[in-house]
Amino acid sequence: MSHSAAKKQLTCSVEDYQVFKKFLSDASGIELGDGKEYLVISRLSRLLRQYELADMKALLSELSFGRNLRLRANVVDAMTTNETFWFRDAPHFRLLTSKIFPEAGNQRLRVWSAACSSGQEPYSISMQAYDYRLRNPGKLGDIEIVSTDISASILSEARKGVYSGLSASRGLNDEQRRRYFSTHAEGYEVKQEIKERIRFQEFNLTRDFTSLGRFDIIFCRNVLIYFPTAVKHDIIQRMSKILRPGGYLFLGSTESMPAKLNAFEMLTEQSGIIYQLKK
Ligand SMILES: C[S@@+](CC[C@H](N)C(=O)[O-])C[C@H]1O[C@@H](n2cnc3c(N)ncnc32)[C@H](O)[C@@H]1O
Repeated sequence: MSHSAAKKQLTCSVEDYQVFKKFLSDASGIELGDGKEYLVISRLSRLLRQYELADMKALLSELSFGRNLRLRANVVDAMTTNETFWFRDAPHFRLLTSKIFPEAGNQRLRVWSAACSSGQEPYSISMQAYDYRLRNPGKLGDIEIVSTDISASILSEARKGVYSGLSASRGLNDEQRRRYFSTHAEGYEVKQEIKERIRFQEFNLTRDFTSLGRFDIIFCRNVLIYFPTAVKHDIIQRMSKILRPGGYLFLGSTESMPAKLNAFEMLTEQSGIIYQLKK
């Protein structure tokens, strides 16, 4: 690639945008609204340079052959929004302690963090269980937290469990930082006793869930907002099939259960909303 090509400002025509929207929706379920060409340009410019692709047309043509699976995954990865923080939607974590852990007692619990981003959600669940055990010795059984995301790069950050001072401060106070982390050259590292219940795995929510097994609790928060209604319905419907009867589904605080999905009962407790699969 010539120096001038590397510097050339990337553009995205209306036609290329439509083709790209279809690619992204087929690959990940993510729906881009109209007029978001600027977002595509800002998220993909670096990748195009890295793959020495001159423009959007060259990228789309490469993607259409379907043989470069790494490029495909990297494009989806670049288009995901990974915003997250510790104990996001605090009432959900209070409900674990006040309701769900006491109900479970010594039964083994399987939890799915279905779009875990850089790991703050599953680690916060594990921290909550850790504290509960300290306060209630012998009163909570084993917990396995399966944590998945479509983005390989964000999962590798999650797996490391190392956070800068800034990200380790979003949602945590000094005392929590001391309790759950050790210091690390790059900031803070989640302690082994918090990490050990968690398994990270790349997984696309538009794919079949059977390989994941059954769960008692599913956290599917702040991801359905990126999907069109039909995809959203389909995902929740399929989650109801792998949740045990009486199990709980957590959605983000700005997300709601579609009215026609009546397999769940909505519970409002301690200013948090959770959905319980009818028994
Ligand atoms: C905004 S973050 C939400 C993180 C966390 N659940 C929370 O509430 O803080 C959304 C995550 O969904 C992931 N995602 C987007 N589409 C996905 C898909 N089809 N399958 C699995 N994960 C997906 C993104 O990679 C991103 O990490």
